[in-house]
Amino acid sequence: MAWFRGDPFRMPPSAALCYEADGMVAIRGDRIVDVGATADVTAGLPSATPVVRHPRALILPGFIDCHVHYPQLEIVGAAGYPLLEWLERYTFPAEAAFADPVHADRIAAVFLDQLRRNGTTTAAVYGTVHPQSVESLFAAALATGLRIFAGKALMDRNAPAALLDTAQRGYDESKALIARWHGRGRLAHAITLRFVATSSPAQLEATAALWREHPGMLLQSHLAENLAELAWVRELFPAAADYTDVFASFGLLGPGTVLGHGIHLSPGERQRIAASGAAIAHCPTSNLMLGSGLFDALATRSAGVVVGLATDVGAGTTLSMLATMGAAMQVARLRGTGLHPAQALWLATAGAAEALGLAGVTGNLAPGLEADLVVLDPASSPLLAARMATIDGIEDLLTTLMTLGDDRSVIATYAGGHQVFG
Ligand code: GUN
Ligand code: ZN
Repeated sequence: MAWFRGDPFRMPPSAALCYEADGMVAIRGDRIVDVGATADVTAGLPSATPVVRHPRALILPGFIDCHVHYPQLEIVGAAGYPLLEWLERYTFPAEAAFADPVHADRIAAVFLDQLRRNGTTTAAVYGTVHPQSVESLFAAALATGLRIFAGKALMDRNAPAALLDTAQRGYDESKALIARWHGRGRLAHAITLRFVATSSPAQLEATAALWREHPGMLLQSHLAENLAELAWVRELFPAAADYTDVFASFGLLGPGTVLGHGIHLSPGERQRIAASGAAIAHCPTSNLMLGSGLFDALATRSAGVVVGLATDVGAGTTLSMLATMGAAMQVARLRGTGLHPAQALWLATAGAAEALGLAGVTGNLAPGLEADLVVLDPASSPLLAARMATIDGIEDLLTTLMTLGDDRSVIATYAGGHQVFG
């Protein structure tokens, strides 16, 4: 069992990581009540407490995917183009299919099943422009126990007509989704501004108004992903000092803003994001697939920005947060900084929780937190089984799982105290 006693970006990573070879998590209702060595935790349990044993498994906090597009499930692996061409060729046609609620129901079910079998207990999800896409997801998610943030994509220009709303319609449809779903079970609405290039100034204003009317609500969007996109945003918003300034000047930057990518940012933009309390979702497999660039996680964290990890499927190549952590480590290696496995795990758990406003709620194993956890089999494939012969400690085990692990590694997933997979 591994968890955190502190933030591995603010203290030596090895010291931030706790490990217990024979560990136990005690759960009452939806909460963790005790964490530690099995002998110690057992001693504090009422007699006849049911115990589930997972011998030779590794228990970790449940994974948190803080930026993913469920309607893009069917274009994973469609590659060969940079962002703007990829949107035109693959993404917009795939999203247009969500005008059909039967299609939306089907893909929502596949998506939620994938989250559970990958050990992902919380996700911040983009719908399409169709409010029905979010209805389908929320309706299916309600019974699962997973924590899902989602919203319909707000987009009123620069996309095919079938995918456009208007400033007023986007506002009204989001408001109706909020009234129907926000706060039901573990569901929460997230205002979902696709990116500023597909929204008119009027829509950005309406979105900011909607956000002001709902204090504490997440607002998710994309920022500084690709150089051609940056040039386009400069053309569309000539009065803005930079990409971040577009968000700030419309009142869209603050605590609760979760911005995908944030690769091409000046030091001044990073400082402004940090000061605002907004967070960045690091999407390494997507950034590699579209050739968007190499996000500098350490520099971004050093600037004081909250960073969470994300798959960004369908540009992202996997829904496995283990594989995504491995990609984050490789990207950091290419940047020349490297990323410690405890730091990669933090980004996928406690860091992502902080990005989604869930610090102190989930993202770690500690008394009082909601019981979101994943149970991993370190020997789930023949190669992993062979590799285990020479594993040298928890850090080696984590990097190996991040390199060779996938959904086969997940024995069980617990969300809010309930087993949701395995
Ligand atoms: N920027 C605007 N929309 C998208 C999207 O769907 N995926 C990615 N990766 N970037 C975007
Ligand atoms: Zn995205």
